[in-house]
Amino acid sequence: GAAPVVAIDGPSGSGKSTVSRRLAAELSAQYLDTGAMYRAVTWAVLEAGVDPADADAVAKVAVNADLVVGTDPAAPHFFVGTVSVDGPIRGAEVTAAVSAVASVPAVRQLLVARQRDIIAGARDAAGIVVEGRDIGTVVAPDADLKVYLTASAAERARRRSTEVAADLAATAADLERRDTIDSTRAVDPLTQAADAVVLDSTELGIDEVVHRLVSLLGVSA
Ligand code: C5P
Repeated sequence: GAAPVVAIDGPSGSGKSTVSRRLAAELSAQYLDTGAMYRAVTWAVLEAGVDPADADAVAKVAVNADLVVGTDPAAPHFFVGTVSVDGPIRGAEVTAAVSAVASVPAVRQLLVARQRDIIAGARDAAGIVVEGRDIGTVVAPDADLKVYLTASAAERARRRSTEVAADLAATAADLERRDTIDSTRAVDPLTQAADAVVLDSTELGIDEVVHRLVSLLGVSA
């Protein structure tokens, strides 16, 4: 199969999710939100009453959680077992704990393997747009297009606080805290792939970013 695999990495609030979903829809491809996978495992950890800092216990929850991953860009629904977790994985409790859970090596190993399986299936089908922190560097180094999407810290905080209707200063502090953990952790930190196209959505705006990616892929939308 020759359907495109697109890797979109960048910090929180850079516009990754909006850009990735819209690009996937335009390509009639699948969409994989790897951050939602780490969030769903974090939900299961909290639900089990496990301390997110207890790496061994967190790893056990991750292995046993029956994570159902939706890849339809129009409706990317996630379940843990039969429980729909789309709402709770965006909540403050999960957001506060997710970077700790995502820094557990066994959790990353498990989820990266799952992500590679999903990508392999999509490569033989309609293609896939994958968003995260380590997609171009670790999960899919052979992606057809790698994008590193950024935006100024102020703009990222402004967008995220509007999205979740939260206080701007608190949102800015949370983004900074997660960015620091995500880019300094020992395993698969957020880094720019050497061959990634770097786009700053502060300057370009989301529509323009999507249009540029469509033309970089050489498809007509
Ligand atoms: O993208 P989102 O903000 O939903 O991701 C939530 C968290 O999941 C990030 O702050 C990061 O700790 C983790 N993550 C990761 N690797 C990815 C995607 C997300 O470590 N590929």
